[in-house]
Amino acid sequence: MVRWPAHWPPFLWGASTSSHQVEGNQSNDWTEWENSGHVAEPSGRAADSWNRWPEDLELAKKLGLNSYRFSLEWSRIEPKPGIFDREALQCYRAMIVRMREIGLIPLMTLHHFTLPLWVSTRGGFLNSQASRWFSRYVRIVVEEVGDLVDLFITINEPMVLVVMGYLIAAWPPGGRGFGRALKLIRRLVSIHADAYHTIKRIKPNAWVGLAHHMIQFEPWRPGLLDYANTRLLHYLMNDRLVRMVGEYQDFIGLNYYTRQYAHWTSGLHPIQNRPGVNVSDLGWEIYPHGLTAVLKRVQSFHKPVLVTENGIATRDEALRTRYLEQHLAAVSAAQKAGIDVRGYFHWSLLDNFEWAEGYGPRFGLVEVNYDTLARSIRPAGYRYRDIIQANENTFPVSVPPASTLPAAHP
Ligand code: FCB
Repeated sequence: MVRWPAHWPPFLWGASTSSHQVEGNQSNDWTEWENSGHVAEPSGRAADSWNRWPEDLELAKKLGLNSYRFSLEWSRIEPKPGIFDREALQCYRAMIVRMREIGLIPLMTLHHFTLPLWVSTRGGFLNSQASRWFSRYVRIVVEEVGDLVDLFITINEPMVLVVMGYLIAAWPPGGRGFGRALKLIRRLVSIHADAYHTIKRIKPNAWVGLAHHMIQFEPWRPGLLDYANTRLLHYLMNDRLVRMVGEYQDFIGLNYYTRQYAHWTSGLHPIQNRPGVNVSDLGWEIYPHGLTAVLKRVQSFHKPVLVTENGIATRDEALRTRYLEQHLAAVSAAQKAGIDVRGYFHWSLLDNFEWAEGYGPRFGLVEVNYDTLARSIRPAGYRYRDIIQANENTFPVSVPPASTLPAAHP
């Protein structure tokens, strides 16, 4: 059993973003994919967080967070093979220094879906040199900012990367090959392991993991066939990669959004929803109990767990607030059942570029006006702040009824 260090806060209250979704990046594989017309709209300047990060961090502070999950943009740091942009590194360093000054523990993701063009045009992570390239980048980063960061995520959602980019061609590089997808899974595991060792060599006390996307799969109908298919989906999509990574993860990072159904005739293509269920603007079912269920599943790995993403695309603040409360209650239920959940990072701190779907979906605790780039905290953000305040020094976490808290306003 791995123990959460006693000198860290018992629970990380956070929110997440990723570089490409908020910064405004122009020279990675996603920009190219967007410019060749594959998505609803190109990311352009996004939320311009590359310039507005001081304001974004102040907003995180205003929400009362004690941690912030963000990612570094590899294409900024190493725009050409082996050529590192010191200015970009300095900018990230300044960002992390500021986080610490205002009491935000940095949770740093090293790869969140985007690759520098010089990597993607050479076959991306399937190139036999990719692990060497990634570890070199990781080493430079950890040498530069490792003194300020204790928590690292090497790769965000490896299985989503595989499915979207290599099986259903919805994301770059637009592949559809089962063989290549399986090869990529093995490759990502070894890229992660090399990066894990690279970090540990420089900073032995660092905590390093991945953010695993987990869907709560359930049988469409009672009966053996759908049940067997459910087990298969859980194994292939949720558990297999975690098992393959094995000991080379100090915590389990878990991104949870929704439930899907297994029907034996649909094989590896789960059914998204039963008719009539409550869904987000992206059509994802709202199913808080699924978070407790996936947390219980990862208990078998005997590691502390961080919920590294959870949130809803909606323009309805009452719905966002309820989603937040119900999913925090699901975390609390998991803790009471003995699962060592040590953090919750809401997706997202602010509205951002939602990949193939563009700017329509609104995930932010903070609203971004894309014309003016003005930010404003949404009611759900204030409710989150009040829940965090009510939980000062408490563990397991609890979600007090709104009526017992000050009204959710500035
Ligand atoms: C996750 C991604 C994140 C965001 C949310 C909605 O799968 O990690 O970048 O797009 O979904």
